[in-house]
Amino acid sequence: MAQTTRIAVTPGDGIGPEVVGEAIRCLETLRTKHNLNLEWDQFPWPSHAWHQEHGESMPEDALAQLKAYDAILLGALGDPGPLNDPDRYLLTDSVSLAPLLEMRKGFDQWVCERPARLLPGARQYLADERAKDIDMLVIRENSEGEYVSQGGRLRKGTEDEIATQMEVFTRKATNRIIRYGFEQARARAADRSTEGRIREFRTLNGNTCESQVCLITKRNALRYWGDMYTEAFEEISKEYPDVATHHELVDAACMKFVQVPWAFDVVVASNLQGDILTDLAAVLSGGMGVAPSCNLNPTDPDMPSMFEPTHGSAPDIAGQGLADPTAMLFTAARMLEWFGRKDPVMATAGKELFGAVAADLAENAGARRGTQEIGEAICQRLSA
Ligand code: IPM
Ligand code: MN
Repeated sequence: MAQTTRIAVTPGDGIGPEVVGEAIRCLETLRTKHNLNLEWDQFPWPSHAWHQEHGESMPEDALAQLKAYDAILLGALGDPGPLNDPDRYLLTDSVSLAPLLEMRKGFDQWVCERPARLLPGARQYLADERAKDIDMLVIRENSEGEYVSQGGRLRKGTEDEIATQMEVFTRKATNRIIRYGFEQARARAADRSTEGRIREFRTLNGNTCESQVCLITKRNALRYWGDMYTEAFEEISKEYPDVATHHELVDAACMKFVQVPWAFDVVVASNLQGDILTDLAAVLSGGMGVAPSCNLNPTDPDMPSMFEPTHGSAPDIAGQGLADPTAMLFTAARMLEWFGRKDPVMATAGKELFGAVAADLAENAGARRGTQEIGEAICQRLSA
């Protein structure tokens, strides 16, 4: 039997514990059904409550503790408290969200994968009928770029204050994220081919390919990293003559995501530009309630990857059983598929969970249901 796979469950704040609860319920069902060698431990940190009690969002050795696991399943972070209480315990956004970035950096989770596929039953925000064909994978560089957290404030609080925020792009991280994008494009084309849904993308020389990678930059203004990304993209693309290549400036990409989103396949973007584009992509594919996300380290098996939905802690509806767990459950499905790299039965379980969540979505399009009601319906489907 395969080695035990261990998950660190960190529900976090707001609706995090509620949606994570449904993920655990589904994991339990699948564990029993497939006799999965899967275990998990739940942590009260990182969280707002932990900060209030201990003066920090998580213990000093948090990363060392988490490193012992194969993955982290994270709910959401951030709790602004009851707005009508002026004395509430309040943290700035950058403090409450810091653990997220510490995990991404500390475990070198250099890929952030955010699929955006408009599934049947999901809310279609675009009126154009072709929006039904939206099926892209946005790959966000997750280790550096605009998120290196270097800079500072000088002469703070004075009229002459200066704030600097540095961006750092290394050739190594650039190469690896671009190559990862091409590999995913190939894998997606292969999957589509087995499912009999071929897509076609035109190359500049008039050929057609079954997959595409679109690189996003702002090279007309941010030329140093923009040019380096462009050169790396051109070089690496030569290894993938079967994949069509495309480039968009990030502002034009925002426009085209709305105008012709069905024309995109794999999209590779920098950390911040990918962050912004994936909120837009989430809405194009049904909204935050259905948008999964994962932070992966595909190169170092000793580093846990982290799985969290794209959405935040939604404090306005927290604790009321109203949150849609769909995004969390799609994320958990992706986590199982990730484990499937070592243990094939996990991949089967992941596909099953994805299928059950998608079927539930298709059947209940638009119906108002509570968090647990959705989780229970999906579990019943899994055990049927
Ligand atoms: C996300 C979030 C985070 C990010 C925030 C909470 C730091 O917006 O995961 O997309 O910017 O990466
Ligand atoms: Mn974001």
